[in-house]
Amino acid sequence: MRKRILVTREVFDETIEFLQGQFDVDSNQADRLFGRDELVAALRGKDGVQTSSSDRVDGELLDLCPTVKAVCNTAVGYNNIDIEACTRRGVMVTNTPGVLTDSVADYSMGMVIATCRRMTEGENYLRSGEWKGTFLKQILGQDVHGATLGIMGFGRIGQAIARRARGFDMKILYHSRNRAAPEAENESGAAYVGKEELLRRADVVLLILPYTAETHHYMGPRELALMKPTAVLVNMARGGIVDDAALIQALKNKAIRAAGLDVYENEPKLNSGFLELKNVVLSPHIASASEPTRKAMAMTAAKNLVAALSGETPPNLLNPDYRKNSNA
Ligand code: 8YV
Repeated sequence: MRKRILVTREVFDETIEFLQGQFDVDSNQADRLFGRDELVAALRGKDGVQTSSSDRVDGELLDLCPTVKAVCNTAVGYNNIDIEACTRRGVMVTNTPGVLTDSVADYSMGMVIATCRRMTEGENYLRSGEWKGTFLKQILGQDVHGATLGIMGFGRIGQAIARRARGFDMKILYHSRNRAAPEAENESGAAYVGKEELLRRADVVLLILPYTAETHHYMGPRELALMKPTAVLVNMARGGIVDDAALIQALKNKAIRAAGLDVYENEPKLNSGFLELKNVVLSPHIASASEPTRKAMAMTAAKNLVAALSGETPPNLLNPDYRKNSNA
């Protein structure tokens, strides 16, 4: 009997065709956001699921859908999935590392430049019809070249950002749970420092670390107060790493100069405080959204699902311990 799978959000036709070659596929190609009950109803009786980063997978869901043996996330981050709950129930979990590294690093540099040089503010000014001519003190920003970039999180994407920043003649500091290998430091010219030192010295603080219980509100009032008043904060990682209310306060009070955000606490809801501020560049969680990269992410997740349900070890398995609890 063919295995049955669910794809929770719209994916590319080529991904669906690939999956249909292997499975009976139920896919949400209409892309209507599933509520919890709809997700349970769609997932009942399925062997596996290709999820998006906005689907919450936890023990309660798995208990309601006990036939599910693999959860393949279409994202490198997996804070939407309770890995421990999956492991305890013998359910494999996978993600999509690697394929999005360069696209996210490119976009991150765009966000750094847009925030330092007030690019969206300039566009809004132009669109509103306020522009009456060029003058010397118009929309003055801060330079990117020569500035000190402090990268929080130095995995694949953090290192790819550092390599790009080097081309912009930035000085690079980084902080992460584990210090990187000397080759990675040399290649990017990044110097390891403590969290506080990074916050005090950086002109641009860029977040690209995983969201876990330990990194919840990693940037709160205390950390924001350690930043230079001339510095900018760029969050390319996950909402929840930054305390959004504290950031809005800091931006209002000019305790820091500006922020560039691709992710938000409780997204897709946006704290309305951001909309009232000029010194923030906002984008809707699209750092990985180039067409080739999103296609590669969808296909990587699909290939993980095929391997998982064919008795092979999926290439991007996150919880090899699932085997201890698996009766497959
Ligand atoms: C988006 C990301 O989550 O891969 C991640 O962890 O944050 C992004 O790539 C993803 O593209 C949307 O599902």
